[in-house]
Amino acid sequence: MFRPIPLMESCRDRYGPIFSINMGSATVVMISDPCLAKGVITGDPETFRAGETNGLFRPVVGSHSILLLDGAEHMRHRKIMLPAFGGGHAQRFGDQVREIAEERIAGWQPGQRLKLRDEMEAISFESIMRVVFNDAAEGRHDRLRELIPEMMDRCDSPYTLIPWFRKSLAGLSPYARLMKVVRQVDEALYEAIDERRADPLLQLRDDVLSLLLRAQQEDGEGLGDRAIRDELLTLIMAGYETTTSALAWSFERLMRSPESMRRLTAELEQGKEDYLNAVVQETLRCRPVVPVVARRLRTPQEIAGYTLLAGTILMVSIYLVHNDPESYPEPERFRPERFLGGTPEQAAWIPFGGGVRRCLGASFAQLEMKVVLREVLTRVTLRASSQAPERVKRTRFTFAPAGDAEAEVEGLVSSATPLGRRRFSAAPDSGTVQA
Ligand code: HEM
Repeated sequence: MFRPIPLMESCRDRYGPIFSINMGSATVVMISDPCLAKGVITGDPETFRAGETNGLFRPVVGSHSILLLDGAEHMRHRKIMLPAFGGGHAQRFGDQVREIAEERIAGWQPGQRLKLRDEMEAISFESIMRVVFNDAAEGRHDRLRELIPEMMDRCDSPYTLIPWFRKSLAGLSPYARLMKVVRQVDEALYEAIDERRADPLLQLRDDVLSLLLRAQQEDGEGLGDRAIRDELLTLIMAGYETTTSALAWSFERLMRSPESMRRLTAELEQGKEDYLNAVVQETLRCRPVVPVVARRLRTPQEIAGYTLLAGTILMVSIYLVHNDPESYPEPERFRPERFLGGTPEQAAWIPFGGGVRRCLGASFAQLEMKVVLREVLTRVTLRASSQAPERVKRTRFTFAPAGDAEAEVEGLVSSATPLGRRRFSAAPDSGTVQA
């Protein structure tokens, strides 16, 4: 729980590409070999069940969340939401992210010290709210803007959601406090659902909430309000925490790789994108923010010469696959050049998982990273507060830089119109682990 990377690395060094770990309540089989990993994450979803491994999130995202579903119901929810993430919407999403980033960067001053993770959180949160609600108007969903970061902070303790610790203790336990915020979030979400249902333009809108509501009306069986609430919260949670950490890592790595920073800023000035793409891919390779994905076997399977019983939990270590020296020589080095001139080898680059569970927001997340990197690096020069690489810490549900990617704004390359700053609280530091 507290030192996952050294544990995974030492087990791989000692036992090879497949090993089991007793986690107390369950034994999991961990996989670090790229080909084995690919077989598991793209395996037949009837055999390799993902929803059954995500029970930890149930109290927050609810039983109808795509994360917890399997089989036909999972595919039904995926099909309903997929159009909101299609290529046709990328242009508008990119424009919205640019506008949000510009507004945020406009508040930065030369000499100011920033925790870039907090800055990225503000940008990513606002961006996902646009995807889900597409309500740009100031003041919309303010209650959610306050409650969701609070809810996420309460999820930060590894103990909050573990079933053993789900006790009320007269409303004082971390779990009870979390549930209190979840109930407030629910009220705000149901209010947003009712309001949108009454919107005369509902049929013309293409944000996630409108798609879910239209599916409710068109689909004979209907998606209940509870299912809509579960999916809205899932997307908000899955959508901003991950991108926040990924962006924070991209700056943390770039600030400590002067050659890469120089090349990127030079190419951005020339309006080129190849190196930018490579930076995004290399960041997601060397600092995958979701370090593992899991599947549970429904029937016995033969994997790497072992017969694994039905019920076995398989965990693909994205971190180990991405740090495999055969796929990536000198894996610890940040070298975007490895991704120039071609898309990453499918099996060895899996930051977004794969198969029918591949991350729904993968292309939006990469687009967001590119837009924000461009906006920041063409406007300001950043310098790391310390040259020592930041360690990896577990925050809420991702791996993030332990120092929150602290930086100093050295100078403004060009200025943007200041439009004010939004409320956003910093995440508390916890569970720091050595990378
Ligand atoms: C850098 C950012 C992100 C990373 C690294 C990431 C990573 C992942 C991973 C590893 C999975 C599990 C895949 C599997 O089990 O094979 C996943 C699933 C998912 N992600 Fe992302 N994600 C990111 C951003 C986003 C965004 C922006 C959204 C929404 C807007 C999103 C929505 C989802 C959803 C809905 C699922 C569940 C898909 C399913 O079960 O069918 N993610 N993501």
